[in-house]
Amino acid sequence: MSQRPYVIDEMISAKSIAARIEALARDIQEEFAGTNKLVVVGLLRGSFVFIADLVRELDLPVEVDFLEASSYGDGMESSREVRILKDLRGQIEGRDVLVVEDIVDTGHTLSHVSQFLLSRLPARLRTIALLDKPARREVDFKADWIGFEIPDEFVVGYGIDFAQRNRNLPFIGKVRFTDV
Ligand code: IMP
Repeated sequence: MSQRPYVIDEMISAKSIAARIEALARDIQEEFAGTNKLVVVGLLRGSFVFIADLVRELDLPVEVDFLEASSYGDGMESSREVRILKDLRGQIEGRDVLVVEDIVDTGHTLSHVSQFLLSRLPARLRTIALLDKPARREVDFKADWIGFEIPDEFVVGYGIDFAQRNRNLPFIGKVRFTDV
């Protein structure tokens, strides 16, 4: 699949992403105002750029941790069965937690990760995803905050990969195969 030739068409500019993150950060700050510590949990690897930009907009006491769940591998289809590949370093019991994801697609990953983390009894757990593809949903899951709702397209950039490539693009683009 990754051998097929493709081009990337810009879908969301770097400027639009930055503006949206500023607005999201204001909402998050309002929600967690007065917290003595917010544990911001990035889901590896796709959220690494988003979490980096988001935490720099948050004027809150923040701790950053990471969790890795199994995902697409090198293909374009979700595996559906979610496994935790790398657990958090820190404790979250009694803490305020914000889980940061790149895309909610079928919904399996974020819904599974949320259940997994809720079993550790955080004080509050909220979720944010930069992108949402509601047309692809297989489980009833809605993130607390969404950056952009997008159609059912395969996207890359701003941390998001296709077969581990294109994570370094500063914008979100859609993959268009040129051999069809
Ligand atoms: P879900 O479990 O189906 O919601 O899948 C979420 C994960 O699938 C995301 O964290 C991404 O890693 C991956 N994913 C979903 N859509 C795309 C896409 O368009 N491009 C690249 N990865 C995607």
